[in-house]
Amino acid sequence: MATADGMSLLQRFLLDLRNITLNATGEPEILARVKPLVAELAASREWLLPRHYEALESQGNGVHLLHEEPDHTLAIVAVCWLPGRETPPHNHGTWAVVAGVDGPERNVFWRRVDDGARAGYAELERVGQQVVEAGDVLAMPSGAIHSVANDTTAITLTLHAYGRHLNFSPRSQFDVAKRTESPRRTVWRDG
Ligand SMILES: [Fe+2]
Repeated sequence: MATADGMSLLQRFLLDLRNITLNATGEPEILARVKPLVAELAASREWLLPRHYEALESQGNGVHLLHEEPDHTLAIVAVCWLPGRETPPHNHGTWAVVAGVDGPERNVFWRRVDDGARAGYAELERVGQQVVEAGDVLAMPSGAIHSVANDTTAITLTLHAYGRHLNFSPRSQFDVAKRTESPRRTVWRDG
């Protein structure tokens, strides 16, 4: 679907995203303004390809990079989730907006309760959850910690926008039972 000026919705979205991040006074304003745009892009499905449903068994999901800027900011990804799989709690080191496309993505939110003074040690407390389905959109500030689960028997898919490509953003994953924090890195495919 092209917009009135002949651009794809993704191209239009990227122009808006660059303008917002350049002019916003801070992350709360970025998240508030980007949220409805990601929801609109997700609902259009114009960027969605069959290969976006291909996942890595080892990772439990498939991350497909639709766009990043040359400096790795403004990363847009389609993420598919294998049935019954769940990520460890993790942060992103940047802002994130997630919109539902196909099936429910259950997000569990966590709060750090230790003081972060001991390297590699972290205590997390579960503070809530939100299920993101088609029509839903979730915004997370840089400090947010969440885990993601696909509770269904089918592969699900969501559209994510991040302030930065996550493998160029310092971030952590957590083991709640072992009380550990370690660097997180995941495989992202182009396109
Ligand atoms: Fe995440």
